[in-house]
Amino acid sequence: LNGSARQESSLFTVQSPNVVYTDDEIKSKYAYQTTEITRTADNKLVATPKATNYNFKVNRKVGKVGMMLVGWGGNNGSTVTAGILANRRNISWETREGKQASNYYGSIVMGSTVKLGTDAKTGEDINIPFHDLLPMVHPNDLAIGGWDISSLNLAESMDRAQVLEPALKSQVRKEMAEMKPLPSIYYPDFIAANQEDRADNILEGDKACWAHVEKIQQDIRDFKAQNGLDKVVIMWTANTERYADIIPGVNDTADNLINSIKTGHLEVAPSTVFAVAAILEDTPFINGSPQNTFVPGALQLAEQRRAFIGGDDFKSGQTKMKSALVDFLINAGIKLTSIASYNHLGNNDGKNLSSQKQFRSKEISKSNVVDDMVAANHILYEKDEHPDHTVVIKYMPAVGDNKRALDEYYAEIFMGGHQTISLFNICEDSLLASPLIIDLVVLAEMMTRISWQADSEGAEYKGFHSVLSILSYMLKAPLTPPGTPVVNALGKQRSALINIFRACVGLQPESEMTLEHKLF
Ligand code: NAI
Repeated sequence: LNGSARQESSLFTVQSPNVVYTDDEIKSKYAYQTTEITRTADNKLVATPKATNYNFKVNRKVGKVGMMLVGWGGNNGSTVTAGILANRRNISWETREGKQASNYYGSIVMGSTVKLGTDAKTGEDINIPFHDLLPMVHPNDLAIGGWDISSLNLAESMDRAQVLEPALKSQVRKEMAEMKPLPSIYYPDFIAANQEDRADNILEGDKACWAHVEKIQQDIRDFKAQNGLDKVVIMWTANTERYADIIPGVNDTADNLINSIKTGHLEVAPSTVFAVAAILEDTPFINGSPQNTFVPGALQLAEQRRAFIGGDDFKSGQTKMKSALVDFLINAGIKLTSIASYNHLGNNDGKNLSSQKQFRSKEISKSNVVDDMVAANHILYEKDEHPDHTVVIKYMPAVGDNKRALDEYYAEIFMGGHQTISLFNICEDSLLASPLIIDLVVLAEMMTRISWQADSEGAEYKGFHSVLSILSYMLKAPLTPPGTPVVNALGKQRSALINIFRACVGLQPESEMTLEHKLF
């Protein structure tokens, strides 16, 4: 099935004077309800309901979509590839617990449902797959390709990763063996020195140059042509790099960054070169690692080109729990006073993170994830007061990809009492991250087909801002448009995503009031 065939069988239509369906588009008029706060002279708050009218337009033609992974031969890259192939062919395999079928568990798009509304006859909730909310690409239909500094084919990478069961691997091995990552760019200074022995598939040159940008652009075009694709989404799932220094005149503006690539400045990271190439090809680029790929110059270039970018760092295990649990504690009126987070892991990610500069990137992205929730509660916290927060990561080869995350949450409760919550979370790393890669690709692609128009004479349809903060649910350190707030709370991130998609088909947010069940 290609995307346009799927669109014919959409699960629901909206019956409303504000929503119009054509073969190619869904158009909606939407009143965005907010509350505007002003202050009186004696500093009292005045809340005024406000409605802003928007028109949304969704292109229903999904087309053929490709996903290109930087770091394709890594644990995530090989696992997500095998997972999609297995789902596409509906493979099942023997385990000691019986037959296991392929699935997309852990993907918000493929594994979660959304309440559409209430049954007119029975009053029951009607829940639909998230994937059916708008016409989205199906992950089974994604063409897959990418780059790696390691030359192993995907079957060999899958073995090296030690993630999937032998009985599953044997059924996808032949197809995986035919997949070979394109040579990539390798500037040794940016990833740990202990990665050097796998770097045998690299383009000439050990610092940024324009030829690298052009080669990546050409790779994108070739991949599109070879697979007959309408568009591609690129994902950085390669090693965590060290932070790049932000230097005025070097990477602070789009022009300076381009010039620095051309003159081979040493502070330009491989991930930034990939981002620049993707932006110039108008291809969405998502950063699944914690480093500051999107230096100010890269961000400005994306804005100038109206290209989509998103990041940073997949939110898969420990931090996902944290952004749900801390939201719960603080919203319950409990004063969280410290979080101690310990991890040990034995995969190649852990090996890379055993180097101090790369660990530092991860430490930064793991550390700020409760700030918005703390700042929102001025009853529990004074201005600028924060819970203590420590993050430790250790490389422990024996546990492989089965990362251990140990967290202690210490909180102050009623009348000086204390609550201590200890979590032991075994995060099968690549099996948690792979569905996030799928979600990020599906949702980023979806965003390329949504446009909006102000409800005024002569207003034009435009896209969303280049920085796709709507992807925050999947990301540990969500990138947002400059000057806009970062939301880390998991529940809020999910609501934003679902409610924006509902607005695109003219539906109000699900308010959870269920008044129909509460009144006499
Ligand atoms: P991995 O180390 O198994 O895979 C990374 C791959 O990138 C390797 O195959 C390596 O050869 C390749 N690589 C390195 N530099 C490259 C370059 N310049 N161009 C092309 N390929 C390059 O790591 P894994 O476990 O797949 O994780 C990937 C990234 O995702 C890491 O940065 C990790 O921190 C991040 N991440 C992973 C999570 C998870 O697995 N649950 C959660 C959050 C982030």
